[in-house]
Amino acid sequence: MKPVLQLQGVGKSYRRGDEQVLVLDDFDFTLDAGEFVVVTGPSGAGKSTLLHVAGGLDAPDRGTVSVTGQDVWSMSAGARAAFRRRNLGFVFQFFNLVPMLTAVENVSLPLVLDGVRARSADARARELLERIGLGDRAGHRPAELSGGQMQRVAVARALAARPSIILADEPTGNLDSHSSTEVLDLLRSLSDEDGAAVVMVTHDPAAARYGSRELRLVDGRASAVDEAAPAEEK
Ligand SMILES: Nc1ncnc2c1ncn2[C@@H]1O[C@H](COP(=O)(O)OP(=O)(O)O)[C@@H](O)[C@H]1O
Ligand SMILES: [Mg+2]
Repeated sequence: MKPVLQLQGVGKSYRRGDEQVLVLDDFDFTLDAGEFVVVTGPSGAGKSTLLHVAGGLDAPDRGTVSVTGQDVWSMSAGARAAFRRRNLGFVFQFFNLVPMLTAVENVSLPLVLDGVRARSADARARELLERIGLGDRAGHRPAELSGGQMQRVAVARALAARPSIILADEPTGNLDSHSSTEVLDLLRSLSDEDGAAVVMVTHDPAAARYGSRELRLVDGRASAVDEAAPAEEK
């Protein structure tokens, strides 16, 4: 099967004062279609950096990042932004919904930005809201929703354009355990149904069990990577 995401020889460091902090060093990673990979590791290990580089948000110093066979970092910035909207969905710890927009407008936003006609963008967003059990909240703004509901909306938004990959950075980091379970169940079932692979960073042992494979970032600065045994079957 062709991988949907491939990082080869990726290097990434940040400058902190006079110091160069090496975060990813000659990093290789392959994600197959439909996989659900959980990324764990201590704070500062480079988990967020990995998602940013893989997702076309932060440029690597060296190496290549291919999404569905296309070299993300050889594109122009404009082409990369469009490519990202169509092929990648993001879920963040603090939801990152647009406060002024309703739930249905937040979910349809990536489609509208991509030039999809309003009527079909709206229909896709409403279908997703039904699937996440928030069909009756379509007209609510984020401030009128609970944390768990906001994150479910963010999951729906990430899937709106039918991306091949969802990148989620501690999506349950700000939720109670009941909401966490709801969000993770949704992330897994929606990504399964829509055929999206998932890379999810988490600190939460309960969340880690959702993965079909675990990638542990250890010794972040040296970025040794250890592909741990498959996560426990759920
Ligand atoms: N924009 C940045 N500028 C400088 N240093 C950064 C930046 N982003 C991350 N870092 C550093 O890179 C390392 C990895 O950070 P990060 O990827 O956020 O780790 P994690 O998500 O695993 O906690 C940390 O030492 C962090 O301080
Ligand atoms: Mg992080």
